[in-house]
Amino acid sequence: MHTKTNGFVPGLEGIVAAQTRLSRVEGKIGQLTIAGFPVGKLASQATFEEVVHLFWHDRLPNTDELNTLQNNLAQLRPLSPATITLLQAAVAANVDPMDALLMAASTISLGLMPDQDAKLALVARLPTIVAAYWRLSQNLPLITPDPNLSHAANYLYMLTGTPPSPAQTRGLETYLNTVVDHGLNASTFTARVIIATDSDMISAIVGAIGALKGPKHGGAPGPALDMVFDIGTLDQAEPYIRAKLERGERLMGFGHRVYKVRDPRAEILAQATETLFQADGDMALYDLVKGVEKTAVSLLAEYKPGRNLQTNVEFYTALLLHGLGLDTALFTPTFAIGRVVGWIAHCLEQQSINRIIRPLAQYIGQQDRNWVPLTQR
Ligand code: ACO
Repeated sequence: MHTKTNGFVPGLEGIVAAQTRLSRVEGKIGQLTIAGFPVGKLASQATFEEVVHLFWHDRLPNTDELNTLQNNLAQLRPLSPATITLLQAAVAANVDPMDALLMAASTISLGLMPDQDAKLALVARLPTIVAAYWRLSQNLPLITPDPNLSHAANYLYMLTGTPPSPAQTRGLETYLNTVVDHGLNASTFTARVIIATDSDMISAIVGAIGALKGPKHGGAPGPALDMVFDIGTLDQAEPYIRAKLERGERLMGFGHRVYKVRDPRAEILAQATETLFQADGDMALYDLVKGVEKTAVSLLAEYKPGRNLQTNVEFYTALLLHGLGLDTALFTPTFAIGRVVGWIAHCLEQQSINRIIRPLAQYIGQQDRNWVPLTQR
């Protein structure tokens, strides 16, 4: 923790700025509770739509409620012509997929009828935006969303044009559920600050996407996967990683500010990845990843004793999303597709408090300056 200077805490580290029933992060013991459930129990069993209901109503849905939610989301998936025109312009300008998501998310209000729910539209349309941008950027025809597919299955279908297998859908749902919320992280805080001004839900989520886009937050699971591909075969793992650590480089996918034991999300995603790869995938790659992880953790303990550097969520995110056929450019936008449900739930909590977030700034500038006219400067 940084030193306090007259009450100023850089980064607000250690400051409690909200109360929430959505998630609890216990870094020392490596536990993550999601809306009352240990993350492992919820993420691998719930459908994404069940998690949406749980987050917004604080209980699991019954069959009727679930069907209604699924139908409402499915109906709101198609994008307005204005959003598609903007995505075409974004492709022409070759913008990063997160920038395209940021721009297009702010157009969601254009396609909404007054009686349609912005929360549902945000959840329903972020995947359509990401998939449309991806296909336009690859010169592929757009895929119309299929209302008969679940939220997760439809996202994969819109990306690839082929309905996914049950194992692929389950793999993606487990990922989306795992990353749905994680305490008062930067993007969630951003969303809360915006909604607390009585601004609207779309503005809050656009702000959150802007925060997630930063490399310190949305992270880059891409480099973690690149390292595995660079290593290539297990016998190269030790010399490769040792050389990296000798050069003072960091191993992507290891270490965490809060977790000092293995990130609980890494465990769930490792299991989900194993299930996916056993059903559909490249077990040789999975075995290589397991071997690289083991070597990395033991060499980190050797080079950085006492720092407790363990596998974090990014390491298996990369492998899972790669196993689902996603390009690395889609990793952070896919994170947003999961996290948007948590952002919205935090906004609902913040609205119920109905208090603007307005901390203080400590003035450290000059006082009583003399005004010098322009001609004399
Ligand atoms: N590889 C090698 N050394 C590391 C790593 C790593 N991945 N992580 C930390 N260290 C070392 C640091 O060099 C430092 O060594 P020193 O004490 O000899 O100077 C020591 O461990 C402590 O590092 P800090 O930077 O103080 O740890 P902090 O808690 O601030 O950093 C962070 C956490 C940024 C995640 C860091 O572990 C890191 O850079 N990891 C790699 C990037 C990564 O995987 N990011 C995704 C995190 S998950 C998420 O954000 C969703």
